[in-house]
Amino acid sequence: GLSQANPAAAGTTPAAAAAPAGKLTILFGSQTGNTKSVANQAFEAAKAKGIDARLVSMADFKPKDIKKETHLLVLSCTQGEGDPPDDAIELHEFLNSKKAPKLDGVKYSVLALGDSSYEFFCQTGKDFDTLLGKLGGKSVSPRVDCDVEYEAPAAAWIEAAVAAMAQDLSAGVAAAPVAAGSAPVVGTSQYNKKNPFTATLETNQKITGRDSSKDIRHFEISLEESGLTYKPGDSLGVWFKNDEAVVADFITKVGLKGDETVKVDDVEVSLTDALIKSYELTLSHPGFVSKYAELTGNEELAKLADDREALRAYIDGRQLIDIVREHPSELTAEQIVSCLRRLTPRLYSIASSQAEVEEEVHLTVGVVRYDAFGEEHFGGASGFLAERLEEGGEVDVFVEESHFRLPEDEMAPVIMVGPGTGVAPFRAFMQEIDAEELNTQTWLFFGNPNFTEDFLYQVEWQDYLKRGVLNNIDLAFSRDQAEKIYVQDRMLEKAEELWAWLEKGAYFYVCGDATRMAKDVHEALVTIVEQQGGKSREDAEAYVTELRKNKRYQRDVY
Ligand code: 2AM
Repeated sequence: GLSQANPAAAGTTPAAAAAPAGKLTILFGSQTGNTKSVANQAFEAAKAKGIDARLVSMADFKPKDIKKETHLLVLSCTQGEGDPPDDAIELHEFLNSKKAPKLDGVKYSVLALGDSSYEFFCQTGKDFDTLLGKLGGKSVSPRVDCDVEYEAPAAAWIEAAVAAMAQDLSAGVAAAPVAAGSAPVVGTSQYNKKNPFTATLETNQKITGRDSSKDIRHFEISLEESGLTYKPGDSLGVWFKNDEAVVADFITKVGLKGDETVKVDDVEVSLTDALIKSYELTLSHPGFVSKYAELTGNEELAKLADDREALRAYIDGRQLIDIVREHPSELTAEQIVSCLRRLTPRLYSIASSQAEVEEEVHLTVGVVRYDAFGEEHFGGASGFLAERLEEGGEVDVFVEESHFRLPEDEMAPVIMVGPGTGVAPFRAFMQEIDAEELNTQTWLFFGNPNFTEDFLYQVEWQDYLKRGVLNNIDLAFSRDQAEKIYVQDRMLEKAEELWAWLEKGAYFYVCGDATRMAKDVHEALVTIVEQQGGKSREDAEAYVTELRKNKRYQRDVY
């Protein structure tokens, strides 16, 4: 949302230093909320320096208004293939287009958030930096590219960038009163990512059949006495513990015992504890290979680390444990820890509404499990939840707010496309619509491999249908016939009705796989608008862009 610092109020105590005049805009494009939380910190830091700052989501910012800005902090994350997050698409396109204005004299600095295990690391942030520079802007503090562990580099960027802005804004200006601090943006609960709530797992139920190709679980977690609240569309952050057996094997492979001590956040803990709770052992990343090669003097790995393509292929099929099994070594505890990344919680789209389940939260999780190199492998968080945590056991969680939201107007129809575990937030939507007795018209597209094995929450959809809470359901069981049938094929079959829904103001939601499904569904949507609306391809794309701008096309894809 858009929040604005209070204008300088008379009667507040002036700061010792001359407070800057002029305005700073902090613009952020966020997908999971990390970028938003850093932007919020930058906003607080700017206000603390007496800067008249405003904090604006790119989703609420009109690109052409950029020419009114004089001082800009731009923060953006990057999606899979180097793409901007949905909120940033418009501004990114605009700055890249012929319509982009001259930004001579605009002072700016960019913070890029990303994940270095992807090829196009921090690409969107890099793009913004280049584009602002090309248009005549001047970067007053160097761009910082943050990896998964973004907190420390982001804090350093905030300090440098806000100081540079404060200096520029106050240059040649007499002392002005300090802007009165508006209330910081705080959550409704004391619990957050850094300070999670220790919740209880109440139910762990496999909801795919015995002969399914997938193991999908329905989890119910109690939030009792946490005060935590969430809305349909939000995600639950789950801190997990690595598998003790894998940790023990890992430690042996690097020639250690486990009782050696290392410092984690300035606290001494055993290597075993550190590897169970604080470091990633499942997701491998390129940095591990190069650092491990360097410390162990392993030439084979060193060669790999120099060949981008080969390195990518190598880590794609391996967890860290596989790499040390193939290349055992003798390292110190500090050395092996220096190769690792801090563990990050996994975010799952919440599958319930509090209007229905009150102090519970439900998740729909696909368990990552496969055999490789003669060993069974599990995903970090999904393996923890499904296999290592007993019902009644404890799990640290927090709520991550999202932009993925039901329409404010209950009369706006809702079209939901959620194959596989992508159906999770739509179960939350349906619970909300049902429990709050909203008049919303609803249409679900669901897909999975087989009808008999993989029809997630079948009984619930049938009950909603019977009671008229769910108006339409279209199913795509991809492997029940010779040729594949996917949700987008069902959309195209119902093109006429889908177009009619859009024309009466429907909201269109997509959740699930980003790389293939969401792209194909997007294509199908544009095609439907083109054919049913009698539009050119270009006009159909413009129509869909307009839907997105008006929040009538929302995606939660991963
Ligand atoms: P498949 O695995 O049989 O190919 C949920 O994972 C469902 O999404 C499965 O039925 C899966 O089909 C299907 N799926 C795979 N690729 C897809 C794509 N590009 N678009 C839509 N659905 C897809």
